[in-house]
Amino acid sequence: MLRQVLLAASRSGGVRRLVETAPYTRNVVRRFVAGESVAGALAVTEQLISDGLLITLDHLGEDTVEASQAETITGRYEELLGRLAQNGSGSRAEVSVKLTALGQLLDDGEKIALENARRVCAAARDANTTVTLDMEDHTTVDSTLRVLRKLREEFPSTGAVIQAYLRRAEEYCAALADEGSRVRLCKGAYSAPESVAFTGRDEIDRSYVRCMKVLMGGRGYPMLATHDPRLIEIGGSLAGLHGREPDSFEYQMLYGIRPNEQRRLARLGAQVRVYVPYGEQWYGYLMRRLAERPANLGFFLRSLATK
Ligand code: FDA
Repeated sequence: MLRQVLLAASRSGGVRRLVETAPYTRNVVRRFVAGESVAGALAVTEQLISDGLLITLDHLGEDTVEASQAETITGRYEELLGRLAQNGSGSRAEVSVKLTALGQLLDDGEKIALENARRVCAAARDANTTVTLDMEDHTTVDSTLRVLRKLREEFPSTGAVIQAYLRRAEEYCAALADEGSRVRLCKGAYSAPESVAFTGRDEIDRSYVRCMKVLMGGRGYPMLATHDPRLIEIGGSLAGLHGREPDSFEYQMLYGIRPNEQRRLARLGAQVRVYVPYGEQWYGYLMRRLAERPANLGFFLRSLATK
């Protein structure tokens, strides 16, 4: 219930203004977001790389309603990737992109998002790195998978995200578990109706395990995005079962969440990638993090009350 309220708030302009202007919101934002500028994000990236972690950088933005905004965000990604090319961290840092930020919801949006995503992928290739397409609201899934297929013709290492809460998740994983295919598996962070998504925690976890089995048993490169200790352990067992070397899959976690666990797994020899969001448009991202976990909301409310 609380989750639904927070997810609804993530799309409300009124609540957005309230949260953005609350005096101490920024302290909370700082825990989950690596600053508003490229320079801030790159400083965090460098630190995490020196701790033995891999990175995926997300220039925050979503649900773009004007073509000029989509153009601006595309340019920001090109700028970021230019910086990664310059400092040579492309082998450790990739980027995550939301197609709705690149124009997917505009009239003729799929075409616009594809063209913009092509530019981002080309800049990534020049920086010796790659792009993963984040997965958003369930209404965009088919379109995002179509764009992915087109991008992979030219940029085969472009990664996909599959949300285990979708009833069709296992089917999507099976279709993507082929050679060279990079697939991030997450539980799913948006609000979706029962007709398309599992809504119970156990059902979602069971779907996550089924999807992991498909991906870890397949020929692609699985990226297990979760903070859930049980699922991380099952992922490790499946790697052993399928004889996967540590460099043939990775764990992924969000910046600011379970940082000690990120480092512990990396010290054990696993590949661990941290999702590092940055930029001014942090509101939707923050609200999804609060919706995920009551403890995060408690942290937020305490910080508002005690400062
Ligand atoms: P969940 O939130 O259910 O937590 C399970 C358990 O993990 C908890 O019971 C606790 O034990 C532990 N845990 C979680 N948070 C903790 C904390 N702060 N401290 C200590 N323990 C904690 N979603 C989406 O829809 N599209 C996308 O493209 C992406 N992309 C993405 C990338 C990456 C790298 C990650 C990690 C996640 C995403 N997500 C996403 C978000 C994802 O769908 C999901 O909402 C969150 O990861 C939360 O789900 P968990 O799997 O972590 O489990």
